[in-house]
Amino acid sequence: MGARPATSAGDDQRTVFDLDLIKRYDQSGPRYTSYPTAVEFDPAFDATRYAEVCRETNASGRPLSLYFHIPFCDTVCFYCACNKIATKDRTLVRPYLDRVYQEMAMQSALFDDDRVVEQLHWGGGTPTFISHAQMRELMDQTRKHFKLADDEHGEYSIEIDPREASGDTIELLREIGFNRMSLGVQDFDPRVQQAVNRIQSEEETMAVLEAARAAGFRSISIDLIYGLPHQTAESFMDTVERIIAVAPDRLSVFNYAHLPARFMPQRRIDDDDLPRPEVKLEILQAATERLTEAGWLYIGMDHFARPDDELARAQRDGTLYRNFQGYSTHSNCDLIGLGVTSIGMVGKTYGQNRRELDAYYEDIDAGRLPVFRGIELNRDDEIRRDVITRLICHFRLDFADVERHWGIDFHDYFGRSLAKLEGMQQDGLLAVDAQGIGVLPKGRLLIRNICMAFDAYLEAKQGPVGFSKVI
Ligand SMILES: C[S@@+](CC[C@H](N)C(=O)[O-])C[C@H]1O[C@@H](n2cnc3c(N)ncnc32)[C@H](O)[C@@H]1O
Ligand code: SF4
Repeated sequence: MGARPATSAGDDQRTVFDLDLIKRYDQSGPRYTSYPTAVEFDPAFDATRYAEVCRETNASGRPLSLYFHIPFCDTVCFYCACNKIATKDRTLVRPYLDRVYQEMAMQSALFDDDRVVEQLHWGGGTPTFISHAQMRELMDQTRKHFKLADDEHGEYSIEIDPREASGDTIELLREIGFNRMSLGVQDFDPRVQQAVNRIQSEEETMAVLEAARAAGFRSISIDLIYGLPHQTAESFMDTVERIIAVAPDRLSVFNYAHLPARFMPQRRIDDDDLPRPEVKLEILQAATERLTEAGWLYIGMDHFARPDDELARAQRDGTLYRNFQGYSTHSNCDLIGLGVTSIGMVGKTYGQNRRELDAYYEDIDAGRLPVFRGIELNRDDEIRRDVITRLICHFRLDFADVERHWGIDFHDYFGRSLAKLEGMQQDGLLAVDAQGIGVLPKGRLLIRNICMAFDAYLEAKQGPVGFSKVI
């Protein structure tokens, strides 16, 4: 039999759902939007050190990425694990934006003026909770402080709750520069919507989607969640079919992370209404198989994209990257987080802003950067982050590439990690040969488990603590 190199397994963009394997490997684990993960962040990394690091990065001239957090939501969805403040009081926006502008002034002073912003994202909470005039103002202020790339080269994205956006909102967002969006849908079933306190008609969702297409948004993504109360494979597939009919460029199918001890509103979800683990797996299987059959590729970690979407293309040509906003095609940016709770990634560091609104305001009003904790990566962290990123983005890893880049002998350095992969190799999740590692179609849905073999912090703690389930 002619041997195919293990790394070429990653060329196969198919995903195979193997129930038995998934059941066996279903455990808690990080989602690797960062490595080390946020649980390792420490107050020793403070605003002073953050500012020094930012200035040091200017020598590189690297492009920038900006993340703005708008924390407010009009009503709370009971499942929600995002950093949000539920309120009907829209007068809270003014004082918040004023602080964000002050923060922007402080942050932009740290970076050379000619560094171009190639990526910008408004997340939440609900970014469209703010008024049209405030949206315009926030973007004007951003352009005042930073140099934004043109529409063709810049990736400008926003999270939209269709209940909080009209056709006019969408037109305005396109006019001020946005060219990509994700729409929160979760599930169209009225019974599910009732149980999670998110009543959202199919009509209002589709109206926003059509308005986005008409306005020339380049990539439209839809968020769904499986594992919500009352869901069955049949009911969820009804939502999936309606979504397939309107063919978004991308889809996120998130696993509902039920951690009521950590997220208060989740206590209003009755445990008895949640689908049993077997039903969740049935839903995941049905959705994965149907979406791949309908032409979407599984990009990894809950994300699907059409083969012609830039994420799928980037995965094929090896330029895909992953950060706090999920998958991206801009790998070499320094990421500046603005607003309460935001996380930045500058140079070899991660830094997080204050998580309570009062504390955030207090820092800004005192003229201090609100960064309160973070981490500086040591060389081992950097090497492991690179390995995890390669696997999670490309489902393959070439030993020689990593050895050249880091000046290590892969087998010496990662002997213990490779030993941990042996069982997974026998189970058909991946192939390993002299050239490298390739994740097989059956291993794609279990990519977190594969990455966990390279996580030094999990090893030190002897297992994942406090993370959500992998599936
Ligand atoms: C900040 S919200 C999106 C913007 C907007 N607030 C909305 O709801 O439409 C980001 C997404 O996170 C997902 N999400 C929130 N809580 C979750 C949970 N507990 N488990 C899984 N996904 C969750 C939802 O799919 C949601 O659309
Ligand atoms: S899912 Fe979106 S709208 Fe609902 S509470 Fe969370 S952030 Fe707010």
